Amino acid sequence: MTATLIDGKEFAARVRGQVAAHVTRLKADHGITPGLAVVLVGEDPASQVYVRSKGKQTVEVGMKSVEHKLEADTSEADLLAVIAQLNADPEIHGILVQLPLPGHLDEDLVINSIDPAKDVDGFHISNVGLLGTGQKSMVPCTPLGCLMMLRDYHGSLSGMNAVVIGRSNIVGKPMAQLLLGDSCTVTIAHSRTKDLAQVVRGADIVVAAVGRPEMVPGDWIKPGATVIDVGINRLDAPEKGEGKTRLVGDVDFDSCAAVAGAITPVPGGVGPMTIACLLANTLTACCRASGLDEPEGLTA
Ligand code: GUN
Repeated sequence: MTATLIDGKEFAARVRGQVAAHVTRLKADHGITPGLAVVLVGEDPASQVYVRSKGKQTVEVGMKSVEHKLEADTSEADLLAVIAQLNADPEIHGILVQLPLPGHLDEDLVINSIDPAKDVDGFHISNVGLLGTGQKSMVPCTPLGCLMMLRDYHGSLSGMNAVVIGRSNIVGKPMAQLLLGDSCTVTIAHSRTKDLAQVVRGADIVVAAVGRPEMVPGDWIKPGATVIDVGINRLDAPEKGEGKTRLVGDVDFDSCAAVAGAITPVPGGVGPMTIACLLANTLTACCRASGLDEPEGLTA
């Protein structure tokens, strides 16, 4: 391997440390404790793990954590009532509704019922529009984490060619907007892109967010490019023993690391940054709601 490893685990710990220091000051100087509410509908095992982890880390940085666990058959009206109550609660600065929601609930309607100022996921249509027009917004956590790592590694991203593989509302599209905001020349590639290899070969920055295990091989990577792997795919790993699995990203790590200048591993790359940025967004939302300066380096 020749690439520098971008250590997301270490970076996320640093972000949490910065958030915790701000929270301590907010409490001491202003008597304010940032509060994050997470709403989970149903019992999806992966979502339960995420929500537990979010709650634990929220408390660890000194914030107030509130969890609303609702039955899988909760009506839309009841869910909207919970959100309305959180929107009106002055002690809650961030609201996250864990996705996916059970099929009978309209995700767009639910997300757009959150007060945009408390939408720490950055999924509300107002925040999407604000980001797209370069205005102050809440920025989706995973792309924000990728941007922080890229800025930390490169300093300025101005003029770099960036290719984002994947066009989801949660990662691909906001990632492209953020890179454009930092003056990259941005291409959004996806499953229908013609000659994806050639497109990726022109990139100084590759962000892979397609959800297809090890899809990007090393011979697509321009020598010295920076590779940010957003994928988290679980594969069977019989070589580790019966029933064992391993996590891989959307890029083939070994062959890409042999060519890239820098690369994020899976696990331990982008993954840990997502919750760290959720905490950063909650702090940002709290500062804005309280008329205080935003934390430097923790926003887009
Ligand atoms: N489910 C998986 N990732 C996310 C996320 O970032 N936010 C929400 N709300 N739900 C998710």
